[in-house]
Amino acid sequence: MCGIVGYLGKRSVIPIMIESLRTLEYRGYDSAGVAFLDPQNAFHVYKAAGKLMNLEQLLAQTLTPAMTAGNASGLHVGIGHIRWATHGAANDINAHPHMGDQQEIALVHNGIIENYYEIKQALQAKGRSFVSDTDTECVVQLLEQLASEMPCETVDDFRAIIRETLQRVEGAYALSIIHKRFPARLFAVRHHAPLVVGEAFVDKGRSDEREYVIASDAVAIAPHTQRILFLRDQEIVDVGPDGIHLCDLDGGALTPELETVNMGPLQIDKKGFKHFMLKEIHEQPDVVRNSLSGRLLDPHHPIRLLPLESEDSPAVEQLEALLKKTSRLVIVGCGTSYNAGLVGKYFIEDLVRIPVEVESAGEYRYRNPIVDENTLLVAISQSGETADTLQATRQAARLGARVLTITNREDSTLGRESDLAVPVRAGVEVSVCATKSFTAQIIALYLLGLAMAELRQSADPQRLSDLKAGLLRIPAQIESALSAPEPIQAIARHFCSTRNALFIARGINFPVALEGALKLKEISYIHAEGYSASELKHGPIAMLDDSLPIFAVVTQGPLLEKMISNCQEAKARDAHVIAFTSATLDSNKAAQTFESIVAMPQTDELLSPLIMTVPLQLLAYYMAEYLGKDVDQPRNLAKSVTVE
Ligand code: M6R
Repeated sequence: MCGIVGYLGKRSVIPIMIESLRTLEYRGYDSAGVAFLDPQNAFHVYKAAGKLMNLEQLLAQTLTPAMTAGNASGLHVGIGHIRWATHGAANDINAHPHMGDQQEIALVHNGIIENYYEIKQALQAKGRSFVSDTDTECVVQLLEQLASEMPCETVDDFRAIIRETLQRVEGAYALSIIHKRFPARLFAVRHHAPLVVGEAFVDKGRSDEREYVIASDAVAIAPHTQRILFLRDQEIVDVGPDGIHLCDLDGGALTPELETVNMGPLQIDKKGFKHFMLKEIHEQPDVVRNSLSGRLLDPHHPIRLLPLESEDSPAVEQLEALLKKTSRLVIVGCGTSYNAGLVGKYFIEDLVRIPVEVESAGEYRYRNPIVDENTLLVAISQSGETADTLQATRQAARLGARVLTITNREDSTLGRESDLAVPVRAGVEVSVCATKSFTAQIIALYLLGLAMAELRQSADPQRLSDLKAGLLRIPAQIESALSAPEPIQAIARHFCSTRNALFIARGINFPVALEGALKLKEISYIHAEGYSASELKHGPIAMLDDSLPIFAVVTQGPLLEKMISNCQEAKARDAHVIAFTSATLDSNKAAQTFESIVAMPQTDELLSPLIMTVPLQLLAYYMAEYLGKDVDQPRNLAKSVTVE
């Protein structure tokens, strides 16, 4: 989703902004732009639809050293943006930064201004002319209008104008703003969209040698400094040579609490793979090892959900007490995280014997859900910034539920707002298409389920030991699943021009079918649906013919024969049925049922999603790759969905 960067300091602003925007590219975007002031304090704004490279080319053709020599204050100050279109097409004009009529203020925005239409009409009535179709432009025009109506001689005056503007704006936003009258300051605001400020001391001891980087994500700041201020909602910040000024929407002064964050620079390295997605699929064995490390020591030790160092701390006792008294779990998430939640439901209900509901966070947040103090809400989000998941979590907490988060980004809003977490240890996931984070989320849910079953003694201890032993074997089994991609490549090549596909499975692999279909849709743009195989005859069977591939996940378990019967019913309607299987199949029956069979390592059926997901990820990857799609940054999608 949109990414904001801002810089104030003594270094040349363009390279820093481009480098910072590049670290945010993984979020997904469709245009980019920058704005800065030259030595005469004139604004320069450059914007280009498409990839960041287009903006870089434009800048290379246009910029001269004189233009980029800093502004009238002797500092370099700039803002930059990658845009994910919500209001108005993805073109140069709608790209950010946006400016007011008088070209006095430039602004970048992440989020949605819900009452933009009313603000725009009121400003047009006052003679302001809008150039873009965006919701964002109304904010900068309103700032400029108020700056013409209110005193605007000092930085304090402009702070008051920002506050007045925000009183009139509804919606979700992170903003970064430059006013040409105050060239030695950079302003920013956060409200329901992430924003962080990094402070670096270029020359320790000399206060005028501070520099600041503002960004939507700490990964863009990590190359410059580890001192980070995580803004909270409704906070307004401005930075300059004399430091950080922080206040709330009423102008009340706040003390900036900077934290030292040990986050290395984002490794934007494909490590020899053609795409990040393929690299991240191949990282899964290590992700599982890492996720189990320190938590699952051996099959006979109880699961440790919290780090070793907290073993004797009250946190462990509190968590154990909570997990013992919980009578119902509600899991919320979106997209892939939602699918991981569904896998968790099968696993946890089986072992813990309490009801587990899984709900799309976007639906949950607008319902009037039933919650009590024995409900544990489990919020799953790779990014920890998904607007729907954040709001659903806050809603449940308000209603009295305890909240446990499963996120890959402990520095995210979700991670920072939660007091109970099972961190996901997937490492930074760059490809928009979630792969290794799905696997790591499932591991986190399995560990939660095992820990609860142990504490509540709700499952046979031998069964729990067997599952733990099985989990420890998973990394090697995923390695084996990854070691021979050729049959999957052949299937992908054969079917990549299909317009539709079905993914079917039973039981705990039903969510794997949903996830397989989601992967294919999002990176190849082929229409795909995931179904429980038992549902085929209730509707989808009507569309089966020899143009339709059906990808079936077939595992060893009580429903194996029923699954094969469902596949035979599809085959009888001329559909092409391809099996991804870890089951021991009768060879004659298999040959009569399946057009191709891709064998996978066998494990306990409850653990099988960890393995059966892998061939479906590879299938989607190779189909998209053969179609020449932009695998890592599929059209219209964002890695971090910070708007509703
Ligand atoms: O960061 P989150 O896990 O909260 O993101 C939720 C979805 O937007 C995300 O899983 C999306 O469906 C992925 N692109 C799927 O690959």
